[in-house]
Amino acid sequence: MNVFRTKGIEMLKDSAEKKGLKKSLGATDLILLGIGCIIGTGIFVLTGVAAAEYAGPGIMISFVISGLACAFAALAYAELAAIVPIAGSAYTYSYATLGEIIAWIVGWNLVLEYSVGSSAVAAGWSGYMVGLLKSGGIELPKALTAVPADGGIVNLPAMLISLFLSLLLVRGTKESVTLNKVLVIVKLVAVFIFLALAGPKVNPANWSPLMPYGFSGVAAGAAIIFFAYIGFDAVATAAEECRNPKRDLPIGIIGSLVVCTVLYIIVAGVLTGVVPYQDLNNAEPVAYALRAIGYNFGSALVGTGAIAGITTVLLVLMYGQTRIFFAMSRDGLIPASICKVHPKYGTPHIITIVAGIAVALIAGFTPIGVIAELTNIGTLFAFVVAAIGVLVLRHTQPDIPRPFKCPAVSVIAPLAVLSCGYLMFNLPIETWVRFGIWSAIGFVVYFIYSYRNSVLNKAKAVSDQ
Ligand code: ALA
Repeated sequence: MNVFRTKGIEMLKDSAEKKGLKKSLGATDLILLGIGCIIGTGIFVLTGVAAAEYAGPGIMISFVISGLACAFAALAYAELAAIVPIAGSAYTYSYATLGEIIAWIVGWNLVLEYSVGSSAVAAGWSGYMVGLLKSGGIELPKALTAVPADGGIVNLPAMLISLFLSLLLVRGTKESVTLNKVLVIVKLVAVFIFLALAGPKVNPANWSPLMPYGFSGVAAGAAIIFFAYIGFDAVATAAEECRNPKRDLPIGIIGSLVVCTVLYIIVAGVLTGVVPYQDLNNAEPVAYALRAIGYNFGSALVGTGAIAGITTVLLVLMYGQTRIFFAMSRDGLIPASICKVHPKYGTPHIITIVAGIAVALIAGFTPIGVIAELTNIGTLFAFVVAAIGVLVLRHTQPDIPRPFKCPAVSVIAPLAVLSCGYLMFNLPIETWVRFGIWSAIGFVVYFIYSYRNSVLNKAKAVSDQ
């Protein structure tokens, strides 16, 4: 039994060409796809919780810590994404470098990032939508807008938006990317309106004390608002649909990360500068802060932008999940029958719908905090493995063409491992337990189904005959 068999890069590219997806994306599409996925529930919802409960105004420093971890991971990701420009992201990279079982467990944990993450984002969307409707005079019953743990029956708006977007994704990438562009612009305008209105009202006295819960609070805050950065890697999952992946992928990943980091630090500073950090623990902290300083109309406007922003995040995350499943089923690790590409739309329609239903069910019934933390741990794990993968590949295949090289790799890749590991370490113990259980289920599935059905296993059987 060889669970560490790797899929050669040429072999990966080959199978991608045989069962390929339509190539329609350029560099600008990718940066917008990245921003579309990055700015969302994290900045609009979780910043308030993290500031009030853990970091205080020091949330600005939390954003710097998390942003640095992501920057290191992004550089590693970009190198792999350019060498292996194939759908599947960290899963595919691990398959080429660290072996099948590692790739499997990375893919399995990317489900936490993409599907479970989508559910958290859908829950955040629902919070802002319910708030906006309420300020427009339409109050939905709590039973239909809250999960059982929060005293409701089902979070119906979260379920409906997830299902609607999965149908949109079935229709095709290009169309979805067009919608994404419009929504990204609306979202950026909303962020700038917030900064323009609230910026002049900052009272520096609110920034003191900077770290009310000490540095450990800032670190815990960093582990939670890491969620706000998730998504830059989703650009890499679109590799196979890029017109020029070697040049455009690194531009897309790093460009979108830089833009978002700068915006986050400024937004966090303004947010904690206009109202006391203790007041930010609510479902719509950004809209709340504007109301608190007397901008009711501005608040509704920014709330609308937040909804648009969160919608794009959901769209890109759900898109990323379908492409990872697509890659895994193409490799035989999950059933190939769900890998089929739609004859007319050119998208993996069956997986898209199955994933959409799963996202809707989780969002409908699970509290947002639990799913956001689980998302973070799964994502950080994948980043750690990807960074190790870069080092392994430099060693095992020093001569393959690297269209983008991670600068100072012997420093950056270990820093990515350490900083992502540090953020994982700062997540609650319950999250670790859930992560352990999920990974254990993953190993069982691997040994019962995936090992035997792997395309590599079948290829070996043929060569043994
Ligand atoms: N980064 C994404 C968000 O903030 C997942 O919602």
